[in-house]
Amino acid sequence: MGTTTRALTVPAVQDRKGAEPLVMVTAYDAPSARVAAAAGVDMVLVGDSLGMVVLGYPDTLHVTLEDMERATAAVSRGAPGHLVVADLPWTTYHQGWAEAVRSAARLVRAGASAVKLEGGAKRLAVLTALLDAEIPVMGHLGLTPQSVHAMGGYRVQGRMPDQARALVDDAVAVTDAGCFSLVLEGVPAPLAAEVTQVVPVPTIGIGAGAGCDGQVLVFHDLVGLSGPRVPRFVRRYADLEAQATSAVASWAADVRAHRFPDVAESYQA
Ligand code: KIV
Repeated sequence: MGTTTRALTVPAVQDRKGAEPLVMVTAYDAPSARVAAAAGVDMVLVGDSLGMVVLGYPDTLHVTLEDMERATAAVSRGAPGHLVVADLPWTTYHQGWAEAVRSAARLVRAGASAVKLEGGAKRLAVLTALLDAEIPVMGHLGLTPQSVHAMGGYRVQGRMPDQARALVDDAVAVTDAGCFSLVLEGVPAPLAAEVTQVVPVPTIGIGAGAGCDGQVLVFHDLVGLSGPRVPRFVRRYADLEAQATSAVASWAADVRAHRFPDVAESYQA
């Protein structure tokens, strides 16, 4: 595998509507960002899923702006020149546009080129303020994890006709307002395809079928570092957890049997 540099800009992402599918993967630290960049993804998302995936929280609601700043800085150091999108965590944009701009600016100063926020028409004032501050915004509709309690759990959204209509209306509202792309998570494939037809910017699906303009997955799910149970929309391309366990176990056995370190692994003077 060669290292491919495909760093995109926000306008270049918009131009990919209906063209070659966009590829986005999460990263929360420099090594995973380096892997994502070397693999040639189009965008790296510092998702607030970091709370569940690497910090061990039960949901994303525990994630702080400081968590996101530190992860965003590490990712931008690991993937220099790549388009890094950072999630605005819960309650850093819900209390007014000024707070939202301040929060987003901290993520941009940490290395993000754009921020992502969850929600539809009710976020329009915040969205407009961020765009006025020249901060590009990626929308996120459908199964929005920051609404886990309001949704009554992590459930596919838009199965009922009225929910589906509301989701299309929200998609039109946030893209009309200026989102440069839109994540659709946990949405029936036909509905995601309909939204993709209706909105002028690329949709990026996760658990939303093949009819989107791109796909996003969580890095740890994709490479097999997130435990045995994953949602049905995940395809695993490696089992790094098994490989890492076996590597550490082999090293432990070598240490216990006095096979590690050898002469070449030691300083003689
Ligand atoms: O936080 C995250 O990883 C996300 C993706 C699932 C889109 O928002």
